[in-house]
Amino acid sequence: MKIIAIYSSKGGVGKTATAVNLSYGCARSGKKTLLCDMDPQGAAGYYYRIRPKDSFNRKLFLKGDLEPFIRGTDFENLDLLPAHFSFRNLDIALDGRGGSAKELKRIFSCVKDEYDVLILDCPPNMTLLSENIIMVADMVLTPVIPTTLSILSFAQLIKLADKLEVSRKKLVAFFSMVDKRKNMHSDTIAKFGKKKMFLAIEIPYLADVEKMGLYRQPVAVSVPASPAAIAYEQLWLEVWRKGSQL
Ligand SMILES: Nc1ncnc2c1ncn2[C@@H]1O[C@H](COP(=O)(O)OP(=O)(O)O)[C@@H](O)[C@H]1O
Ligand SMILES: [Mg+2]
Repeated sequence: MKIIAIYSSKGGVGKTATAVNLSYGCARSGKKTLLCDMDPQGAAGYYYRIRPKDSFNRKLFLKGDLEPFIRGTDFENLDLLPAHFSFRNLDIALDGRGGSAKELKRIFSCVKDEYDVLILDCPPNMTLLSENIIMVADMVLTPVIPTTLSILSFAQLIKLADKLEVSRKKLVAFFSMVDKRKNMHSDTIAKFGKKKMFLAIEIPYLADVEKMGLYRQPVAVSVPASPAAIAYEQLWLEVWRKGSQL
């Protein structure tokens, strides 16, 4: 099972939009896919119209008791583990278990034979949970809005990976919510876009992605063949190609 974490310490950069559309693309390509919503806000579950069972909570998650709480989606090959409100304290709970950065590895090992790909929609922070995410992931995929602060938070991620002594190779970025009419965006892409860590594909700022909250479906379903659907399909293809080279 390959683990792709959609991670950034910044909020509002397009992580959840990416996790939802990428998991759909992954499942469409025939891979048995599990999307795990790690963010207590539960947006990924919302987009897929799935709520956690009342009996689920952080304690069961930490025990690795995931299978009873995994839900099927409307789509073939795609299951979802919805976030629970109690996930907001996952960091504190992880700390209470000795502060190891390897807890997620143990937790997800119980589903490793069931799925080809596990996609994590991560909350925006830089904590022990983030360290666990970086350790467990085969690829940490970071959406970067082409602005100074977004670049800065990616630089901090590189620093954290170095501290954890994980290979920089697993850190992969792409430009998200791109608006080429903005000088800041085109200048930032010109400056950083050629770096090895950045994918070639850019996800433009598109109203159809914003409207996912209304349709509550991946864009490939709500607006098939639209620029948004095509952009995320290309993102999936490039991510998979890159992943197989890691
Ligand atoms: N490519 C895009 N174009 C337009 N709006 C986007 C795009 N990506 C995300 N959004 C919107 O921006 C907001 C934040 O995106 P989201 O995926 O929730 O970010 P994060 O998970 O990083 O907090 C949401 O309202 C979402 O619909
Ligand atoms: Mg999110």
